[in-house]
Amino acid sequence: MSAQIIEGKKVSDQMRIEMVEEVAALKTKNVIPGLAVVLVGDDPASKVYVGSKEKACQQLGIYSEVHRLAADTSEAELLGLIDRLNGQASINGILVQLPLPKHINEKAIIDAISVEKDVDGFHPESVGNLTIGDDSLLPCTPAGVIELIKRSGVDIAGKHAVIIGRSNIVGKPVAMLLLRENATVTICHSRTANMEELAKQADILVVAIGKAKAIDSRYVKPGAVVIDVGINRLPDGKLAGDVDYNDCLDQAGYITPVPGGVGPMTITMLMKNTITAAKRANGIEV
Ligand code: GUN
Repeated sequence: MSAQIIEGKKVSDQMRIEMVEEVAALKTKNVIPGLAVVLVGDDPASKVYVGSKEKACQQLGIYSEVHRLAADTSEAELLGLIDRLNGQASINGILVQLPLPKHINEKAIIDAISVEKDVDGFHPESVGNLTIGDDSLLPCTPAGVIELIKRSGVDIAGKHAVIIGRSNIVGKPVAMLLLRENATVTICHSRTANMEELAKQADILVVAIGKAKAIDSRYVKPGAVVIDVGINRLPDGKLAGDVDYNDCLDQAGYITPVPGGVGPMTITMLMKNTITAAKRANGIEV
Protein backbone atom coordinates (compact mmCIF):
# COMPACT_ATOMS: atom_id res chain seq x y z
CA MET A 1 0.00 0.00 0.00
CA SER A 2 1.31 3.39 -0.93
CA ALA A 3 0.67 6.45 1.24
CA GLN A 4 -1.82 9.12 0.30
CA ILE A 5 0.17 12.17 -0.81
CA ILE A 6 -0.77 15.38 0.97
CA GLU A 7 -0.49 17.93 -1.81
CA GLY A 8 0.29 21.22 -0.09
CA LYS A 9 0.31 23.14 -3.33
CA LYS A 10 -3.28 22.09 -4.08
CA VAL A 11 -4.47 22.82 -0.54
CA SER A 12 -2.74 26.20 -0.70
CA ASP A 13 -4.34 27.04 -4.07
CA GLN A 14 -7.77 26.07 -2.72
CA MET A 15 -7.31 28.24 0.38
CA ARG A 16 -6.27 31.18 -1.77
CA ILE A 17 -9.43 30.83 -3.84
CA GLU A 18 -11.42 30.95 -0.61
CA MET A 19 -9.48 33.99 0.57
CA VAL A 20 -10.02 35.93 -2.68
CA GLU A 21 -13.75 35.72 -1.90
CA GLU A 22 -13.22 36.64 1.72
CA VAL A 23 -11.16 39.72 0.82
CA ALA A 24 -13.78 40.76 -1.75
CA ALA A 25 -16.51 40.44 0.90
CA LEU A 26 -14.46 42.58 3.31
CA LYS A 27 -14.11 45.26 0.62
CA THR A 28 -17.88 45.67 0.58
CA LYS A 29 -17.49 46.66 4.25
CA ASN A 30 -14.69 49.09 3.33
CA VAL A 31 -12.10 46.85 4.97
CA ILE A 32 -8.93 46.25 2.95
CA PRO A 33 -6.40 44.03 4.72
CA GLY A 34 -2.88 45.49 4.55
CA LEU A 35 0.53 43.85 5.00
CA ALA A 36 3.88 45.56 5.44
CA VAL A 37 6.95 43.47 4.69
CA VAL A 38 10.33 44.78 5.76
CA LEU A 39 13.53 43.52 4.12
CA VAL A 40 16.91 44.69 5.40
CA GLY A 41 19.93 44.01 3.17
CA ASP A 42 20.11 41.87 0.06
CA ASP A 43 20.15 38.22 1.08
CA PRO A 44 19.13 36.45 -2.16
CA ALA A 45 16.81 33.88 -0.52
CA SER A 46 15.09 36.60 1.53
CA LYS A 47 14.54 38.67 -1.63
CA VAL A 48 12.79 35.71 -3.27
CA TYR A 49 10.58 35.12 -0.19
CA VAL A 50 9.63 38.79 0.03
CA GLY A 51 8.77 38.82 -3.69
CA SER A 52 6.50 35.79 -3.20
CA LYS A 53 4.72 37.48 -0.29
CA GLU A 54 4.15 40.62 -2.37
CA LYS A 55 2.77 38.52 -5.24
CA ALA A 56 0.43 36.60 -2.94
CA CYS A 57 -1.00 39.89 -1.64
CA GLN A 58 -1.66 41.07 -5.20
CA GLN A 59 -3.31 37.76 -6.08
CA LEU A 60 -5.70 38.04 -3.12
CA GLY A 61 -6.45 41.77 -3.24
CA ILE A 62 -4.54 42.51 -0.05
CA TYR A 63 -2.82 45.91 0.14
CA SER A 64 0.93 45.51 0.54
CA GLU A 65 3.94 47.69 1.18
CA VAL A 66 7.48 46.39 0.90
CA HIS A 67 10.13 48.39 2.72
CA ARG A 68 13.54 47.52 1.30
CA LEU A 69 16.25 48.92 3.54
CA ALA A 70 20.03 49.01 3.07
CA ALA A 71 22.15 46.38 4.85
CA ASP A 72 23.73 49.07 7.05
CA THR A 73 20.38 50.34 8.37
CA SER A 74 20.71 50.89 12.12
CA GLU A 75 18.59 49.13 14.72
CA ALA A 76 17.21 52.52 15.77
CA GLU A 77 16.10 53.29 12.19
CA LEU A 78 14.39 49.90 11.90
CA LEU A 79 12.67 50.39 15.26
CA GLY A 80 11.50 53.79 14.00
CA LEU A 81 9.92 52.20 10.92
CA ILE A 82 8.18 49.53 13.02
CA ASP A 83 6.84 52.19 15.35
CA ARG A 84 5.42 54.05 12.36
CA LEU A 85 3.86 50.86 10.91
CA ASN A 86 2.39 49.97 14.33
CA GLY A 87 0.46 53.23 14.16
CA GLN A 88 -0.48 53.09 10.47
CA ALA A 89 -4.20 52.29 10.06
CA SER A 90 -3.85 50.87 6.52
CA ILE A 91 -1.46 48.19 7.82
CA ASN A 92 -2.86 45.18 9.70
CA GLY A 93 0.19 42.94 9.55
CA ILE A 94 3.92 43.60 9.88
CA LEU A 95 6.50 41.05 8.81
CA VAL A 96 10.21 41.68 9.22
CA GLN A 97 12.03 39.17 7.04
CA LEU A 98 14.60 37.14 8.96
CA PRO A 99 17.52 36.74 9.25
CA LEU A 100 18.49 40.35 9.94
CA PRO A 101 22.05 41.68 9.53
CA LYS A 102 24.22 40.78 12.54
CA HIS A 103 24.38 44.30 14.00
CA ILE A 104 20.60 44.27 14.57
CA ASN A 105 19.12 42.47 17.57
CA GLU A 106 16.34 40.29 16.17
CA LYS A 107 14.62 39.90 19.49
CA ALA A 108 14.42 43.67 20.00
CA ILE A 109 12.78 44.00 16.58
CA ILE A 110 10.26 41.18 17.08
CA ASP A 111 9.36 42.55 20.52
CA ALA A 112 8.67 45.99 19.00
CA ILE A 113 5.96 44.73 16.61
CA SER A 114 2.48 45.40 17.95
CA VAL A 115 0.98 42.04 18.97
CA GLU A 116 -2.21 42.79 17.00
CA LYS A 117 -0.06 43.08 13.83
CA ASP A 118 2.27 40.17 14.57
CA VAL A 119 1.38 38.08 11.51
CA ASP A 120 4.50 35.93 11.98
CA GLY A 121 3.31 34.92 15.46
CA PHE A 122 6.86 35.32 16.78
CA HIS A 123 6.16 37.98 19.47
CA PRO A 124 6.45 36.61 23.04
CA GLU A 125 2.88 37.69 23.75
CA SER A 126 1.62 35.79 20.68
CA VAL A 127 3.54 32.71 21.85
CA GLY A 128 2.07 33.12 25.34
CA ASN A 129 -1.46 33.52 23.97
CA LEU A 130 -1.07 30.36 21.91
CA THR A 131 0.19 28.49 24.96
CA ILE A 132 -2.65 29.48 27.27
CA GLY A 133 -5.29 29.14 24.56
CA ASP A 134 -6.17 32.83 24.07
CA ASP A 135 -6.81 34.29 20.61
CA SER A 136 -3.58 35.04 18.81
CA LEU A 137 -2.10 35.11 15.36
CA LEU A 138 -0.54 31.69 14.78
CA PRO A 139 2.96 31.20 13.40
CA CYS A 140 2.52 30.49 9.70
CA THR A 141 4.37 27.23 9.08
CA PRO A 142 2.96 25.48 12.19
CA ALA A 143 -0.55 26.69 11.34
CA GLY A 144 -0.02 25.34 7.80
CA VAL A 145 0.91 21.93 9.22
CA ILE A 146 -2.37 21.76 11.16
CA GLU A 147 -4.38 22.92 8.15
CA LEU A 148 -2.81 20.20 5.96
CA ILE A 149 -3.61 17.48 8.49
CA LYS A 150 -7.20 18.67 8.94
CA ARG A 151 -7.89 19.13 5.24
CA SER A 152 -6.63 15.58 4.61
CA GLY A 153 -9.59 14.41 6.68
CA VAL A 154 -7.45 13.20 9.58
CA ASP A 155 -8.99 13.58 13.04
CA ILE A 156 -6.29 14.86 15.41
CA ALA A 157 -8.09 14.43 18.76
CA GLY A 158 -6.85 11.49 20.80
CA LYS A 159 -3.98 10.72 18.41
CA HIS A 160 -0.38 10.40 19.54
CA ALA A 161 1.59 13.13 17.77
CA VAL A 162 5.38 12.98 17.87
CA ILE A 163 7.32 16.05 16.82
CA ILE A 164 10.99 15.73 15.98
CA GLY A 165 12.63 19.12 16.51
CA ARG A 166 12.07 21.76 19.21
CA SER A 167 12.72 25.08 17.47
CA ASN A 168 10.79 28.18 18.47
CA ILE A 169 9.54 28.69 14.92
CA VAL A 170 8.32 25.15 14.18
CA GLY A 171 8.72 22.35 16.74
CA LYS A 172 7.43 24.10 19.86
CA PRO A 173 4.46 25.90 18.24
CA VAL A 174 3.44 22.76 16.30
CA ALA A 175 3.41 20.91 19.63
CA MET A 176 1.18 23.58 21.22
CA LEU A 177 -1.21 23.57 18.24
CA LEU A 178 -1.51 19.77 18.22
CA LEU A 179 -2.11 19.84 21.97
CA ARG A 180 -4.84 22.42 21.41
CA GLU A 181 -6.39 19.97 18.91
CA ASN A 182 -6.41 17.38 21.71
CA ALA A 183 -3.56 15.19 20.50
CA THR A 184 -1.23 13.52 22.99
CA VAL A 185 2.07 15.19 22.22
CA THR A 186 5.68 14.04 22.49
CA ILE A 187 8.56 16.33 21.51
CA CYS A 188 11.83 14.69 20.48
CA HIS A 189 15.13 16.50 19.91
CA SER A 190 18.85 15.98 19.47
CA ARG A 191 19.26 14.77 23.07
CA THR A 192 16.33 12.35 23.02
CA ALA A 193 17.60 8.89 24.00
CA ASN A 194 15.14 6.61 22.23
CA MET A 195 13.94 8.66 19.27
CA GLU A 196 13.27 5.76 16.90
CA GLU A 197 11.17 3.95 19.51
CA LEU A 198 9.13 7.08 20.25
CA ALA A 199 8.68 8.08 16.61
CA LYS A 200 7.47 4.58 15.78
CA GLN A 201 4.57 5.11 18.23
CA ALA A 202 3.32 8.20 16.40
CA ASP A 203 -0.04 8.34 14.67
CA ILE A 204 1.08 11.77 13.46
CA LEU A 205 4.82 12.36 12.94
CA VAL A 206 6.01 15.92 12.30
CA VAL A 207 9.66 16.35 11.39
CA ALA A 208 11.47 19.71 11.55
CA ILE A 209 15.20 19.26 12.14
CA GLY A 210 16.84 20.64 8.99
CA LYS A 211 18.75 17.46 8.07
CA ALA A 212 18.16 15.90 4.66
CA LYS A 213 16.48 12.47 4.66
CA ALA A 214 17.32 11.90 8.35
CA ILE A 215 14.07 10.05 9.06
CA ASP A 216 13.45 6.81 7.20
CA SER A 217 10.80 4.08 7.40
CA ARG A 218 12.28 2.63 10.60
CA TYR A 219 10.85 5.68 12.40
CA VAL A 220 7.37 5.36 10.91
CA LYS A 221 4.46 3.32 12.25
CA PRO A 222 2.46 1.66 9.45
CA GLY A 223 -0.34 4.01 8.43
CA ALA A 224 1.07 7.08 10.22
CA VAL A 225 0.57 10.66 8.99
CA VAL A 226 4.06 11.96 8.14
CA ILE A 227 4.51 15.73 7.85
CA ASP A 228 7.92 16.88 6.62
CA VAL A 229 8.74 20.52 7.38
CA GLY A 230 12.37 20.33 6.23
CA ILE A 231 13.68 21.92 3.05
CA ASN A 232 17.31 21.00 2.38
CA ARG A 233 19.45 21.65 -0.68
CA LEU A 234 21.31 18.50 -1.76
CA PRO A 235 24.80 18.63 -3.31
CA ASP A 236 23.23 17.93 -6.74
CA GLY A 237 21.08 21.08 -6.34
CA LYS A 238 17.81 19.23 -5.76
CA LEU A 239 15.58 19.83 -2.73
CA ALA A 240 14.95 17.16 -0.10
CA GLY A 241 12.98 17.11 3.10
CA ASP A 242 14.06 15.82 6.51
CA VAL A 243 12.17 12.61 5.72
CA ASP A 244 13.42 9.98 3.28
CA TYR A 245 10.24 10.24 1.22
CA ASN A 246 10.75 7.26 -1.09
CA ASP A 247 11.70 4.99 1.79
CA CYS A 248 8.58 5.98 3.80
CA LEU A 249 6.09 5.93 0.96
CA ASP A 250 4.93 2.34 1.52
CA GLN A 251 4.94 2.55 5.31
CA ALA A 252 3.09 5.85 5.86
CA GLY A 253 -0.69 6.34 5.55
CA TYR A 254 -0.29 9.97 4.49
CA ILE A 255 2.87 11.86 3.61
CA THR A 256 3.86 15.37 2.47
CA PRO A 257 6.33 15.68 -0.42
CA VAL A 258 9.22 18.19 -0.59
CA PRO A 259 8.84 20.43 -2.48
CA GLY A 260 5.07 20.86 -2.72
CA GLY A 261 4.06 19.85 0.81
CA VAL A 262 4.32 22.17 3.80
CA GLY A 263 6.30 24.85 1.93
CA PRO A 264 3.46 26.36 -0.14
CA MET A 265 1.32 26.67 3.00
CA THR A 266 3.51 29.18 4.82
CA ILE A 267 2.73 32.25 2.71
CA THR A 268 -0.91 31.19 2.43
CA MET A 269 -1.18 31.17 6.23
CA LEU A 270 0.52 34.59 6.30
CA MET A 271 -2.28 35.87 4.05
CA LYS A 272 -4.83 34.28 6.37
CA ASN A 273 -3.24 35.98 9.39
CA THR A 274 -3.33 39.34 7.62
CA ILE A 275 -7.04 38.90 6.91
CA THR A 276 -7.67 37.81 10.52
CA ALA A 277 -5.77 40.84 11.85
CA ALA A 278 -7.80 43.15 9.56
CA LYS A 279 -11.06 41.63 10.78
CA ARG A 280 -10.09 42.00 14.43
CA ALA A 281 -8.97 45.59 13.87
CA ASN A 282 -12.41 46.34 12.45
CA GLY A 283 -14.44 44.47 15.04
CA ILE A 284 -15.45 41.71 12.60
CA GLU A 285 -15.76 38.21 14.03
CA VAL A 286 -13.11 35.76 12.80
N1 GUN B 1 12.67 33.86 7.08
C1 GUN B 1 12.46 32.57 6.74
N2 GUN B 1 11.23 32.20 7.13
C2 GUN B 1 10.65 33.27 7.72
C3 GUN B 1 9.39 33.50 8.31
O1 GUN B 1 8.51 32.64 8.39
N3 GUN B 1 9.18 34.75 8.79
C4 GUN B 1 10.12 35.71 8.74
N4 GUN B 1 9.83 36.90 9.26
N5 GUN B 1 11.30 35.54 8.20
C5 GUN B 1 11.57 34.31 7.70
